[in-house]
Amino acid sequence: MSTKLAVIAGDGIGPEVVREALKVLDAVEGVYHPQVTVEMLPYGADHFLATGETLPPAEMRRLGQDVDAILVGALGDPRVPGNEHARDILLGMRFQLDLYVNERPARLFDARLTPLKGKRPSDIDLMIFRENTEGLYVAVGGTFKHGTPDEIAIAEELNTRKGVERIIRYAFAWAAARGKTKVTMADKANAIPAHALWRRVFEAVGSEHPEIRRETRYIDALAMDLVRTPEAFEVIVTGNLFGDILSDLASALVGGLGLAPSANRNPSGVTMYEPVHGSAPPLAGKDVANPMAAILTLAMMLTDRGAAAAGAAVERAVREAIAHGVGTPDVGGTLGTRAVGDWIAERVRRG
Ligand SMILES: NC(=O)c1ccc[n+]([C@@H]2O[C@H](COP(=O)([O-])OP(=O)(O)OC[C@H]3O[C@@H](n4cnc5c(N)ncnc54)[C@H](O)[C@@H]3O)[C@@H](O)[C@H]2O)c1
Repeated sequence: MSTKLAVIAGDGIGPEVVREALKVLDAVEGVYHPQVTVEMLPYGADHFLATGETLPPAEMRRLGQDVDAILVGALGDPRVPGNEHARDILLGMRFQLDLYVNERPARLFDARLTPLKGKRPSDIDLMIFRENTEGLYVAVGGTFKHGTPDEIAIAEELNTRKGVERIIRYAFAWAAARGKTKVTMADKANAIPAHALWRRVFEAVGSEHPEIRRETRYIDALAMDLVRTPEAFEVIVTGNLFGDILSDLASALVGGLGLAPSANRNPSGVTMYEPVHGSAPPLAGKDVANPMAAILTLAMMLTDRGAAAAGAAVERAVREAIAHGVGTPDVGGTLGTRAVGDWIAERVRRG
């Protein structure tokens, strides 16, 4: 299957990690021939500061209709303190392309990478499904009496039956297809009555999968247990904010943001792939950012696009790099971004 891939390298370390992912894609093409056509798009802070443009509506429509996959590096730049370009581009794609599934795996590749005592790779292998189009991220609300001692700031949390049901349904279907035995839902129904909707829907949808145990947990206690007993979790489904936080926590259990890939899916449309990390401005331009999250994100894309052998080869190459101590400083290595990308690309090239 051929793939039209649009790439927004973005800001900060985004272009550096995307460059390495594309280097690995080049290597993949020589061996597995997945037929990926890459189109580089200019959007990001530089483009916004030069033109005032974030992501034009016609371009957004084109991304939804004419491309198969989108790869984003990261967005966020100190020269745009209000972050409006990043919101327009990233949240814009999630909302307007209805990318309601944010899929964020956390798998421990090597015991040395976890800060948890005594945990082995088999102890940490979980998938987080974060609802990606609702919750507290919808910017419903506002401020009143701005800048005065009486200032009020309100952000409404949006939970629709449709939105809650489709992410829970996706999580159970994913779990069922992979023989998982348990799905856990994180909410805060004890303090936020609206979360009772999540509980009701979880019960209804989960009961369609009697082979899968279902568990509801309050987010605070779940966060604690994720650190204490990560082996107790297989699949976690949750809302937008909790999923954002939990997935960073989970990434820290397996070696950090430099190793965390993700996909933003509209199951009947386009998928946007991105490393979980941000633009890490202090690291930009120093050849120290870990490109593995972006490279693992590429692997997800290849697998989704029918090039499973290529995706597996890329993931295997990352695992081998880690096993050989090849990495950037955040994972205990001594190499730079480019050298890590070179090593992984070479490994893939050798088949
Ligand atoms: N999806 C996105 O594009 C996205 C996600 C999160 C944050 N952001 C934006 O990124 C900017 C910086 O945000 P932040 O500092 O909160 O988050 P961040 O993810 O950029 O950095 C958090 C920490 O992780 C480290 N880190 C991140 N990626 C790394 C990598 N590849 N290799 C090694 N270390 C890495 C950073 O050095 C920092 O210590 C902000 O503008 C924020 O809005 C964007």
